[in-house]
Amino acid sequence: AAGGGGSGGAAGAVSYPPPSATSSELPAFELPPNVRLHPPTAQIRALMTIIRSAETSRADWIFSADRVIRLIVEFALNFLPVSPVTVTTPVDGAVHEGVAFSGKILGVSVVRAGEAMEPALRSCCRSCRIGKILIQRDEATAAPTLFFAKLPDDVASRHVLLLDPMLATGGSARMAIQALLDAGVPQSKIVFVSVLAARQGLAAVCAAYPDVSVVTAAVDAGLNAKKFIVPGVGDFGDRYFGTD
Ligand code: PRP
Ligand code: URA
Ligand code: MG
Repeated sequence: AAGGGGSGGAAGAVSYPPPSATSSELPAFELPPNVRLHPPTAQIRALMTIIRSAETSRADWIFSADRVIRLIVEFALNFLPVSPVTVTTPVDGAVHEGVAFSGKILGVSVVRAGEAMEPALRSCCRSCRIGKILIQRDEATAAPTLFFAKLPDDVASRHVLLLDPMLATGGSARMAIQALLDAGVPQSKIVFVSVLAARQGLAAVCAAYPDVSVVTAAVDAGLNAKKFIVPGVGDFGDRYFGTD
């Protein structure tokens, strides 16, 4: 995937939280080089504030989560390749040297919470193929188990957007990435797209798969005893699908 620093462009070490982020009390730490952090725009920060709050109504939570997801999916698409293309505009036959999307894309959602990200990807990439990997954490130990995977036969030739909003210990992400590698997808063609990551899990995933790009909107400091992200958003799947 195309390179770029953690803030989506600048090369070199990137600290988190960025200087413009005011909501976090965390001491800065260096993001792994393969993290692509969405810039902390006012929109991202306000929407993340809504989905973090325990007081947010279900309707507002889903609405705001969908908006964050759309922003993060649009951002993640920047790490897929483009190739030069020349077009003629309607004005005096003038030409414009531009770029066009190139390469075949595949979305793969980590069921269940990752399925919440499918509509945004489909909105951006019409008729995008979607694979599924069912991985569930054990509620007591947080250890992930892979139950099912359905990927297209040509998965190895595609750029894969691996969709899961939460990266906590990183166990599920590592298992999902490994399933793609086992199917022949090179690390460099995998973009893991998340909404929120915990430092510990992010570091583990990035160290294990240094050529996978990991996109996220925010990075939190901690995990609690049940391996939930702190401060976090709670259980994303439960809040999104209403099963809490
Ligand atoms: C959640 C989440 C991630 C995983 C993150 O899924 O969607 O897949 O936990 O935790 P980890 O980084 O520690 O592995 P969960 O297994 O709870 O299933 P769900 O999607 O049905 O909520
Ligand atoms: N899954 C979630 O939905 N939230 C967390 O904080 C951790 C795993
Ligand atoms: Mg869950």
